[in-house]
Order: sequence, then C-alpha cells, then structure tokens
Amino acid sequence: MITTTIKGIGAHEGQEVRVRGWLYNKREKGKIAFLILRDGTGYLQAVSFQPEAPPGAFAACQRVTQESSLTATGTIRRDERAPGGYEMALTSVAIHQIAQDYPISPKEHGPEFLLDHRHLWLRSSKQHALLRTRSEICQGIREFFHQRDFVLIDSPILTPAACEGTSTLFETDYFGDRAYLSQSGQLYLEPACLAFGKVYCFGPTFRAEKSKTRRHLTEFWMVEPEVAYAELPDLLELAEDLVVALVGRALERCGPDLKTLERDTAKLEKVRKPFPRMTYDQAAAILLRPESAARAKAQDAPPFQAGSDFGGFDETVLTEGLDRPVMITHYPSALKAFYMQPDQADPGRALCVDVLAPEGYGEIIGGSQRIHDYDLMLRRIEEHRLPVKAFQWYLDVRKYGSVPHGGFGMGIERFVAWIGGVHHLREAIPYPRTLNRLYP
Ligand code: 4AD
Ligand code: MG
Repeated sequence: MITTTIKGIGAHEGQEVRVRGWLYNKREKGKIAFLILRDGTGYLQAVSFQPEAPPGAFAACQRVTQESSLTATGTIRRDERAPGGYEMALTSVAIHQIAQDYPISPKEHGPEFLLDHRHLWLRSSKQHALLRTRSEICQGIREFFHQRDFVLIDSPILTPAACEGTSTLFETDYFGDRAYLSQSGQLYLEPACLAFGKVYCFGPTFRAEKSKTRRHLTEFWMVEPEVAYAELPDLLELAEDLVVALVGRALERCGPDLKTLERDTAKLEKVRKPFPRMTYDQAAAILLRPESAARAKAQDAPPFQAGSDFGGFDETVLTEGLDRPVMITHYPSALKAFYMQPDQADPGRALCVDVLAPEGYGEIIGGSQRIHDYDLMLRRIEEHRLPVKAFQWYLDVRKYGSVPHGGFGMGIERFVAWIGGVHHLREAIPYPRTLNRLYP
C-alpha cells in the first residue's frame, strides 16, 4: 500500500492509502468520529463510522488523544466540506504513542507559557504557517542572489572585533583571548567582494540588545550582499529588487499559509517598484511638524529631536499612508557606523540607506557605501576607539586595489514578521533568543 503525504493526497482519490502523522483535533458524535490529522504538510479529516468501521478502528479513534502519533489507513474521497477538499474513510488506525495531557489546548495561553513550550508550539497552525513562510523566504533569498551571480561567502561567527558598535557585543573567552559573536558578516564580505565582485552571506548574527521591544532579538538571521564598484544608487536598486522579488514569491507560494495567518495580502500586492525615497532631512522635517509631535505625545512616545536617530514610533509615522517600503538616505554620519562613506557634497552625511517597511514594521534593511580611502578609514577606526590592530586585515581592503563598494543587511525576522503580519519578532524565528529568554 502507498504511504502518502497529506499534501499529495489529491493524487490518490478512490485509493486506499496510508498517512503517518499526529492527531491535531478530534470530534465524536455518537457512532461517528472525525479525526483531524496533521503530518507537517497539511491537515486531513479522517472519518470512522462505527457500524461500518472494521473492528478496532473505531475504538482506536476513541482512544487517541491530541498530538498522539498514528498511522491512518483509509480510502480517499473528495469532499468539498473537508479542509483541503479530501477526506479519508478510515479502515485502520495504528497508534504509535499516546500523548498524555498535551499542554497546548485550543484555549488561550499567555505568550510566556507558549514561549516556554516553543518546542511544541511549533505544531500550532499559525506558528506552522509562519515558519513555513520563513522557509520559503529564505529559499527565495538564496535563489535571488544565486541567479544574479552572487557568490555565497559564509562569514565567521567568532570574531576578534566589533562591526556595529561596541555596546551590543556578546563576549566569549577564546583560549585566553577575547572573542565576540558576530554582529554582521559585512567586514568579511568587503575583502570577498574584491575577490569575487558580488558576494553575500546569510546566517545568524548576535546583538546583546538590552531592549525589550517587539523588534529586537539577541540572535537573528541576516542576509548581507556586498558589491564591488557599487555606489549608493546601485544599492537602492538592489534592495528594492530583493524586497519586490521576495514579496512576490511569498504571495505566489505561501497563499494558504498567509490565509492561516489572516494576512491582508491586498496590502502586499501593492509592494512594487519604485519605492519612495527621502533623505534623513526630509524625514526629520516630517517628524518635526507640530502635528507629529502632538501625536507622539498622545501615544506616550518620546518626541523626535532634530539630529537624532528615528525611534520605533518615528518609523511608524514615516511609513504612514504609504503602500510600500520607504528608503531613507543620507543620515548624519554621527548616527551611523564607522565604515560609512561620507557624501562628498555634504561630508557630515553618510551615503547610507535604511529601508522601512509599511504598516509599522520598521527598519528591515540597513546599508551603505563603504569608505574606500585608507587614510579616512584609519581615522574613523581611531575616532571610534576601535583596536586598530584587530582591523589591520580590514584596512588591507583599502590598500590593495581599493574601489568604491557597498552593501546592506536585511533582518530575516523583521521581513518575515512583516510578510506574515505578526506583531512580535519572536514568532518569526523557530527558537527566539531575547533579553529574557534562552529556553528552550
Ligand atoms: O542596520 P544594521 O545594524 O546593519 C548592519 O549590521 C550592517 N553591517 C549590514 C550591512 O550593511 N551589511 O542591521 C541590518 C538589519 C536591520 O535593518 C534589521 O532588519 C536587522 O538587521 N536587525 C535586527 N533584527 C532583529 N533584532 C535585532 N536586534 C536587529 N538588529 C538589526
Ligand atoms: Mg540599522
């Protein structure tokens, strides 16, 4: 007999097949039992009618509990009312293990309880849909860069120096020396782009963020392209293309999952090129309007101060009324990382971009052109009190065939949370790590 996945069940109408999975839910009405099975690929309703069922099958349906593992055998028939459009008429049920008192029931649980049971929460339909969407997006990222001839350069996790400021470094002992968990693969991609032209890395990154916001994790995944001879306008175009391609892919391939998530996909359909662009100064002017200040006050958010970085509430204001992400460029250099190339026309400004997602999801991408002049880079490293010795190799990029180059980083969980329409980043990663959580 054929063993099939629930996803592939449509090919077996009229046949007797085997499905291996778990009991998601069960309804019994007198002499009839409805089991909702799940196998990771979908949900299938299996029915047993006592007078017709072979001996043992109906009793097994009565005995099986939520999340018990089982192999169900039965005949597949079309049924418009069943989830997925097919139903199984059970001929036998082999129970592998009875799950006793499964802790997550259909009733409401608090977020801390669910996070403590994250290893089981993964089985719930909404979490399942979101993590499948994440998987599809990650695959889309790899294909996007591969198709454009980017070379994957995996960057190290254990590093001797900081990339994005020293205040969020996780420190660890490295055989008597100090090492840090990588905040970004960027520094390692810059030399690689001089070797390969176009490169990217895609992996976990770490920030000892002491903030408890819904947008911060201490361990998150980032995809980072880096391109030789690229200047700021090239980076804006690449970022735009990446976001549009990934939104399109999610709409095309994650329809049922986005439906489970109750995502308003009409909003995502509008994400097309070109994205609106504005400079930091133009964005600041919007935030300095009296009505913006009044709104911040009404929401108990700190009011925007001229020259400062944008907070979460500011980002929401800046994307309001927009149906696609906005790209904000030319931030004051003082707000940004040490490596950013200054604007020749206005040296206090950096040739950088932050891409803010609509619907209040905030910054999904941060990037810039990099300083390619040796002396200026050395000066910046010193000004930022970074250990010059640990950056010697990085300075070599400016010594041997230096060219303008640049790239950006996109946080996967921020992107997935936006696409899935979930409020908090912690649901957009299988096992979240936050200020208060290292379990499970
Ligand atoms: O803006 P960031 O800090 O930029 C960099 O790390 C650059 N070195 C990237 C580059 O140019 N190659 O981070 C990039 C993105 C942010 O836009 C955000 O999406 C995400 O990474 N991110 C976080 N996501 C979750 N939790 C955090 N604590 C994050 N910090 C940054
Ligand atoms: Mg940033």
